[in-house]
Amino acid sequence: MRVLRIHPKDTISIRQQMLRPGRPIESCIYTGDDDEQTFHLGAFVDTKLVSVASFYFEKHPQLSPPYQYRLRGMATLSEYQRRGLSSELLKMAFPIIKQNLASLLWCNARLTAVGFYEKVGFEKVSEPFTIPDIGEHILMTKKIEIE
Ligand SMILES: CC(C)(COP(=O)(O)OP(=O)(O)OC[C@H]1O[C@@H](n2cnc3c(N)ncnc32)[C@H](O)[C@@H]1OP(=O)(O)O)[C@@H](O)C(=O)NCCC(=O)NCCS
Repeated sequence: MRVLRIHPKDTISIRQQMLRPGRPIESCIYTGDDDEQTFHLGAFVDTKLVSVASFYFEKHPQLSPPYQYRLRGMATLSEYQRRGLSSELLKMAFPIIKQNLASLLWCNARLTAVGFYEKVGFEKVSEPFTIPDIGEHILMTKKIEIE
């Protein structure tokens, strides 16, 4: 398995399959995908891209640290799940976020994925809330230590 930086367009197929099944391709293109400070990571098994995650320099209005990154589009193809691939993507992301001087990573976690985020060091910081057409979520954060 290898983790590499990937182009925004390479995230779309896995996003569509795992996060927006049956929804149009346009719904899988997120605001900020092409921004300079955004980065996208992919895990490859042999030469096949099987897991993706995207990181946006974006402050959450209710969270106080001035420099924050947002995690979106975290997904691993079903047959490759529970092999540590998403964890590896995050391990590669933390130092990049730190290098960009952000001290917090946040995400709107689907309730079904909260256990995963807790395993990789996120904490729940909100009550559940509904994102229309997608479902129940919880705001979760992970501190990124900057010396
Ligand atoms: C959530 C998801 C991204 C996790 O990807 P993954 O590659 O399977 O994750 P990992 O294998 O790195 O898991 C790391 C740890 O979390 C655990 N874990 C994974 N998914 C979990 C879940 N849904 N609930 C509880 N624990 C979970 C793993 O067992 C592993 O535990 P371990 O360290 O004790 O072995 C993947 O299940 C997925 O794509 N789900 C569908 C899309 C989705 O819901 N994405 C999140 C949107 S907010």
